[in-house]
Amino acid sequence: MSTQTPAGYTYGSTPPSPVSRDDLAKLEASVLFTAEDEQALRMAGDVLEDQVEDILDVWYGFVASHPHLVAYFATPDGTVLNDYLTRVRGRFGQWIMDTCRRPHDADWLSYAHEIGLRHTKDKKNRTDAVNSVPYVPLRYMVAFIYPITATMRQFLANKGHAEEAVERMYQAWFKSVTLQTALWLQPYAADQW
Ligand code: HEM
Repeated sequence: MSTQTPAGYTYGSTPPSPVSRDDLAKLEASVLFTAEDEQALRMAGDVLEDQVEDILDVWYGFVASHPHLVAYFATPDGTVLNDYLTRVRGRFGQWIMDTCRRPHDADWLSYAHEIGLRHTKDKKNRTDAVNSVPYVPLRYMVAFIYPITATMRQFLANKGHAEEAVERMYQAWFKSVTLQTALWLQPYAADQW
């Protein structure tokens, strides 16, 4: 993938997350995320680094083949915004590597909140200045945990690692996507989060 900073990517310069470090620790414990998972994600970063575009092709193919999903990258009357898809794709690729390599520190927590906001009425469309539908429904955020996880297994296996190592990377990825989705739901329902 490109080494340039993707358009609209503001990691390190977003406001602090309202989620405390203590809440993060409890959430990590709730998805059974441990130091071993962190290590497995580091390994996954090396495995996935040169496959990011192929992964994005699979994910974008999945979205493109479902009109009810591609609608979130379209105008309210249904015209697909290809520039929007392209710009978000750059940030999505960066997120794959961030998921593998970034420590769960204050910057990571802040950007997790920012990603959540960017799916909600508060901030969707703003980063790319587009006239798209106002938010991604919460139910699809949760539903996407499955495809974003299941499609990853083959990519994790592509570099010839032992089955046990692939499984460790896969489980760590699954936990991280679940953890991050839980964080992203905070701006959807702050008072009941
Ligand atoms: C933005 C991941 C669910 C549509 C993004 C970004 C990432 C991401 C990493 C870019 C964040 C940034 O700006 O740096 C995910 C993951 C999901 C999920 C991992 C679930 C597990 C969905 C769903 C849809 C969707 C269900 C609807 C089809 C979008 C759109 C943007 C976006 C439209 C651009 C938002 C904006 O205007 O800034 N997503 N997403 N996402 N995602 Fe998702």
